[in-house]
Amino acid sequence: MATIKDVARLAQVSTSTVSHVLNKTRFVSPEITFRVEQAIDELHYAPSALARSLKSNETRTLGMLVTASANPFFAEVVQGVEQRCFELGYSLALCNTRGDKERLNASMEMLLQKRVDGIILMCTQVRLGAGLFDRYPSVPLVLADWGPMDMEADLIQDGGKQGGRLATEHLIGLGHRHIGCITGPLGKRAADERLAGFKTAMTTAGLPIRPEWIIEGDFELAGGNSAMSALLAQAERPTAVFAGNDMMAMGALRALADAGISVPQQMSLVGYDNIELAHYLVPALTTIEQPKAGLGALTVDTLLARIKAPDSPRRVLTLTPELIVRGSSQTPV
Ligand code: RIB
Repeated sequence: MATIKDVARLAQVSTSTVSHVLNKTRFVSPEITFRVEQAIDELHYAPSALARSLKSNETRTLGMLVTASANPFFAEVVQGVEQRCFELGYSLALCNTRGDKERLNASMEMLLQKRVDGIILMCTQVRLGAGLFDRYPSVPLVLADWGPMDMEADLIQDGGKQGGRLATEHLIGLGHRHIGCITGPLGKRAADERLAGFKTAMTTAGLPIRPEWIIEGDFELAGGNSAMSALLAQAERPTAVFAGNDMMAMGALRALADAGISVPQQMSLVGYDNIELAHYLVPALTTIEQPKAGLGALTVDTLLARIKAPDSPRRVLTLTPELIVRGSSQTPV
């Protein structure tokens, strides 16, 4: 098998010039680049990523830990991460924690053993094993979405307070006065912040917050479905509901259909995330856009900036949510 030395000899350049051509790390004139590329073709030279890693002490691989969920939100963010990695010449090692503590720690250990250059954590607030970072103290980390808050890591958060407020203000603007909220699992930052935004909008508009109309869900279809069923079972019902994510809004739509309640005529509904499916529901879902691909790209850029400047101050970046009005919300009849 040809080595970098064989390529250098055939192209009549130094091995470091071959390396610069391969890695685009320095300007090399077009003629010399051409000679090197010809030699590579002639010798069928395939560079070894392993050899390069050993020399440069970087693997150009990023790790990512995600919580398993049927929620397409995560797939859309991962796509953004992969795309950005690809654009920048990095590989991505993706691990699904399935919300399981053992698996989270085992995956983390495996990524660290593989010497990934940095890790993106996008999973539940499950604790990482104590001692893990004693053995790998300097691994750069970025927390995206709603990971644990108290870690030594840069943080990208979703602006949930603003988003919850936007969703609720939209319903208030349409004339709704009786508004309920299906929250995510309380205690998780994304769920708490969106609820806080709902409460702020209600209070600012001078509307009562009825505790029996705030039902805790689980950020999944089933939770949205049972929360809406619980709302519908009450003697007095709201005319509009803000669901803390699109998955719960979809589950809620099903409960409304089963109860023969038409949306938006008898009940307006707003979700959160703007997953691709939201546009295809009947009626199409009014929701809050989270820039998912942008979130993915931003986590990669933030992680690479941390890798380059490990001692720079911790960064906390907040995304800007945006209201997307579709068919599931209207003026109360
Ligand atoms: O994990 C559930 C939710 O958290 C997602 O729908 C997204 O909104 C995220 O913030």
